[in-house]
Amino acid sequence: MKFRLAIWILVVVALVSTVSAAPASTRPMGKQTSHVALAQTPPMGWNSWNKFACNVNEQLIRETADAMVTNGMKDAGYQYVNIDDCWQVDRAADGSIVVDSHFPSGIKALADYVHGKGLKLGIYTDAGHYTCQKRPGSYDHEKQDIDTYAAWGVDYVKIDWCYAEGLDPEVQYVKFRDAIAAASHPIVFSLCNWGVKAPWRWGAKTGNSWRTTGDISDNWDSMSSIGFSQDGLERFSKPGHWNDPDMLEVGNGGMKKDEYRTHMALWAILAAPLLAGNDLRSMNAETHDMLTNREVIAVNQDKLGKQGRRVWHEGPLEIWARPLADGSHAVALFNRGSGSIRMTLPFGVIGVTGTAALRDLWEHKDLMPISKSYSADVPEHGVVLLKVSEAKVKKSVTP
Ligand code: GAL
Repeated sequence: MKFRLAIWILVVVALVSTVSAAPASTRPMGKQTSHVALAQTPPMGWNSWNKFACNVNEQLIRETADAMVTNGMKDAGYQYVNIDDCWQVDRAADGSIVVDSHFPSGIKALADYVHGKGLKLGIYTDAGHYTCQKRPGSYDHEKQDIDTYAAWGVDYVKIDWCYAEGLDPEVQYVKFRDAIAAASHPIVFSLCNWGVKAPWRWGAKTGNSWRTTGDISDNWDSMSSIGFSQDGLERFSKPGHWNDPDMLEVGNGGMKKDEYRTHMALWAILAAPLLAGNDLRSMNAETHDMLTNREVIAVNQDKLGKQGRRVWHEGPLEIWARPLADGSHAVALFNRGSGSIRMTLPFGVIGVTGTAALRDLWEHKDLMPISKSYSADVPEHGVVLLKVSEAKVKKSVTP
């Protein structure tokens, strides 16, 4: 009898330990689905708002997905095709969201199409009563809407903060987080409340990224004041949880080439989501080369996931740096002033003491190894973007 009991205990112990050691995918499903870790590097993709505002439709989204594949952006790492405001129009009697007639095939069909291209689909809603364009918001429909998106196969949701007077973002956004955690499909969660109540302080408990500022516009003053104001927020960002200084304006026509380079370089140093905001179907070679510069993207997507910061400044001149997984640093010399200005990077500011190996990431060129400091002419509103590492000193072999 005692022997039988001992056998039973052994069997039960073995069963319990097998279940808890099983990988999440084979574990019996509980209430919450355990999703793979999302956004381990800043999300890359496209969003309709900066170029198209409310003029979105099914055709545009399909053509954008097509373009992302054919123009090489997909190969460069861009993945999410995100519809911003204005895809929704009403609520049905059962409370479910009604899709605007500009999307006649519905969002599920669109998600299938985008998935068929090896890409992912993103969508937009608002935590308040209406979206910023007065379409129905998700207030009081948080779980219902997330379940609908998951059933459609949506992979990313941006959640805005218009018409949310009197609501607390820390309370409202958690409702979406919990719905997403329990949903049948993994969804990247992008909070968009423009910095209200300092979302960097609580955002990582809630979503994968949080907007830190108001909206970007396609001009130097807007882009530079947003981008250069991010110093100090670096400690809140980490793999899976990113500060979001808003989407890219590269290629929309309101800035000069050097200004767009500053935009890309800064967003790379900031480990910011890289969501192109131009018309991907008709961009020129300059825009294309800027958006698909692999060496700049590699800085943005660096596996260490450490957001950079300002390490030196003097008047309109700023040097920002970001440590990279291979032990090197991405360093950007920015000239926010007028006319070309010669700038010097003293290697001490990034902790490089010996001779430095340098690579110019816009020019795709290795520079001569050099000690102590490096100087370069930086164009007006432009940037010199470098990868800097301690040069490997060749040991002399004594016979
Ligand atoms: C703003 C948001 C923008 C865009 C717009 C749509 O609040 O910051 O990125 O989504 O709403 O109406």
